[in-house]
Amino acid sequence: MKVLVTGGAGYIGSHTVLTLLAENHSVVVFDNLCNSSIEAIKRVERLSGKSVTFIQGDVCDKAQLNELFIGHDIDAVIHFAALKAVGQSTQMPLEYYQNNVYGSLCLLEVMQLHQVNNFVFSSSATVYGEEAQPPYLETIKLGTTASPYGATKVMVERIIEDFVKANNAFRAVSLRYFNPIGAHESGEIGEDPLGIPNNLLPYIAQVAVGKRDKLSIFGNDYDTEDGTCKRDYLHVMDLAQGHVAALDWLENNPNFNGAEVFNLGTGNAVSVLEIVAAFEQAYGKTLAYEFAPRRSGDLPAFWADASKANSQLNWQAKRSLLQMMTDTWRWQSNNPNGY
Ligand code: NAD
Ligand code: UFG
Repeated sequence: MKVLVTGGAGYIGSHTVLTLLAENHSVVVFDNLCNSSIEAIKRVERLSGKSVTFIQGDVCDKAQLNELFIGHDIDAVIHFAALKAVGQSTQMPLEYYQNNVYGSLCLLEVMQLHQVNNFVFSSSATVYGEEAQPPYLETIKLGTTASPYGATKVMVERIIEDFVKANNAFRAVSLRYFNPIGAHESGEIGEDPLGIPNNLLPYIAQVAVGKRDKLSIFGNDYDTEDGTCKRDYLHVMDLAQGHVAALDWLENNPNFNGAEVFNLGTGNAVSVLEIVAAFEQAYGKTLAYEFAPRRSGDLPAFWADASKANSQLNWQAKRSLLQMMTDTWRWQSNNPNGY
C-alpha cells in the first residue's frame, strides 16, 4: 500500500514508518515538525535502506493536503499528527482543539474529496475517562476526560463514527494506545521531547544521562501495592506493529465499512517504582529519585484488556519490560541531546 503518515516524524510515527517500510509499504510523511526533527526521517531511511517522501506541512492546511492527494495515489492514512501534552492542553485549550480536532476534520474532508477510504487514527486510553474501572474494554462507554487533550481524542473518535455512518465507503480504525515507551533496538531513533519531559520514561532517561538531578515520583500514597501509580507500558515497536496489523485487517476485510476501535496495550499494570527498578537493571546503576506530591489528574491504576486486538488483529505486545528499558537507555545514552 501507499500510506500517508501524518505526524510521521514524531516518536510513534517514526517507529511506525520504519515498520511500514520493513513490510514493503511505501510511505509519504506529512509533518509540520512542530514537535519533531527531520533527522528522525533521515535515520529511518538509513536504517531501512529505503526512501521516504517527506512533505513539511500542517494538517489544518486543506489546500496543501489537497495538493498532496493530487500528487500521490494514497491507499490509506495513518493520522498521528496532534499536540499531546496533557498539562499544556489545560493552558492552551484552543490550540489543542484547533490542531487535533480541526486538523482531523480537514484531513477527513480532503480524504473524502479524493475517495481515500482507509483511515487509522491515534487515539488514547485517556478516552475512558476518570470513572471507568480497569481493565479497560473497548465496550466501556467513553467517559469524562480530565484534560482538553483527552477531550480532543473523544471528539475525533465521535466525528469518525458519524462520518462513517454518512459515507458508506469509509473504513476507520481507532487505536487506543496505553503507555508507549522504549525505542528502536538500533538506538538510532527514540523519544526526543522538547524541554522538561512530562512523561515518566523520558524523565528517567534524562536523569540517567545527567541532564536532570533526580526523578520526582508523583505520589506514593495511592491505593496500589507500593503506593505508586500503575500503567500499562508497551514497547513502541510493538505499538508500531499494531498499526501494520490494523492496515492488514482493513485490507483483509474488504467488505468492512464502519469504525472499529482497538486497545493496544500489554494487559499488565506496572507501578512507577517497578519501572524504576527495571530501568536500574538496564542502566546498571541506581537512579536518584524522591517522592513528591500527587500530580493532579493522575489516576491510580489503569491497564488494557487487549484481547480484541489479539483475536481480531492477530496482534500482541511481545517485548518485555526489560527490553523497553534497555532500548530506552541505548537511545538516550547514544543521543544524550536527542536528534
Ligand atoms: P509526537 O509529538 O512525537 O508526534 C506528533 C507529530 O505530529 C510530531 O512530529 C509533530 O510535529 C506533528 N504535528 C503536530 N501537529 C501537526 C499538524 N498540525 N500538522 C502536521 N504535523 C503535526 O507524539 P507521539 O507520541 O508520537 O504521538 C503520536 C500520536 O499518538 C498523537 O496523536 C498522540 O496524541 C497519540 N498518543 C500518544 C501517546 C503517547 O504516550 N506518546 C499516547 C496515546 C496517544
Ligand atoms: N510520573 C512520575 N514522575 C514523572 C512523570 C510521571 O512519577 O516525572 C508518573 C505519573 O504520575 C504516572 C506515571 O508516572 O503515574 C506515568 O505518567 P506519564 O506522564 O508517563 O503517562 P500518563 O499515564 O500520565 O499519560 C500517558 C500520555 C497520555 C495518554 C496516557 C494513556 O501522556 O497522553 O498515557 O495512553 F493519554
